Amino acid sequence: MVAPAHSAVQPKARNVGPIILLGAPGAGKGTQAKQIMEAYGIPQISTGDILRANVAQGTELGKQAKAIMERGELVPDQLVCDMVAQRLLQTDCERGFILDGFPRTVAQAEWLDQFLASERFARQKCAHLPPVVIEIAVGYNQLLKRLTGRRSCPTCGRIYNVHFQPPRVTDVCDVDGAKLVTRKDDSEEVIAERLKAYERQTLPLTEYYKGKGRLRVLDGEKDPDLVTAETLKAIEHGHSM
Ligand code: AP5
Repeated sequence: MVAPAHSAVQPKARNVGPIILLGAPGAGKGTQAKQIMEAYGIPQISTGDILRANVAQGTELGKQAKAIMERGELVPDQLVCDMVAQRLLQTDCERGFILDGFPRTVAQAEWLDQFLASERFARQKCAHLPPVVIEIAVGYNQLLKRLTGRRSCPTCGRIYNVHFQPPRVTDVCDVDGAKLVTRKDDSEEVIAERLKAYERQTLPLTEYYKGKGRLRVLDGEKDPDLVTAETLKAIEHGHSM
């Protein structure tokens, strides 16, 4: 039997180290990150969410990222790495964290390896633990359907899908009643660009992490609760190796 995705089980209290979620746009990284967060009580670091918050607040970083994101291209490595460094040094990351959407280029992955081994990061309790890298694999047609059908809650961040995970009332969040929104980059042209950027710049990461013996690939086309069960199993296995 599959464990319920939203269980009332207490989060595990031990250190887990970095969990890296790889996968194409729409593969379900954000959906699974939220379940891991509940299971382990560690934060989800979504570079996409942090960038979107910067765009909404009109910060200097947001001004630099806005047009790039609207075209579906990747924000320059240096900007993203600086932003991630600041976030990973915060105290809520000391027991572990989930990286959702980072790294996304081989240069970002190399930077991350160096950062996790650096003096700057050494004071975090999870610093010595090896990362667990999970790729969520989903085919092209399914990705398109998921991205065009995605809706999210602007208040609590819960993710829905009009085809696969609809809210109880159309366009209304089950949790807090807010009106659901469609992400600006979920239009068909921008989705096509994001998928191209993924193939060109992010797919090579699979070989990078395979070469380090860290990669676990999961079938992301299964029911979300089944994917969660396999994700949690992969994390437990990764940390007992
Ligand atoms: P980002 O926000 O990271 O977007 P993304 O990688 O394109 O991923 P998504 O958030 O679209 O998909 P997801 O895998 O999280 O899927 P989700 O769980 O929502 O990045 C946006 C932009 O920011 C980039 O284009 C770039 O410009 C910039 N950026 C971000 N990070 C960067 C970096 N490191 N470097 C440079 N630039 C960066 O699920 C999708 C839908 O499917 C939902 O509707 C969900 O309900 C549904 N679903 C999920 N799982 C299932 C399932 N098993 N079955 C059926 N439906 C499912």
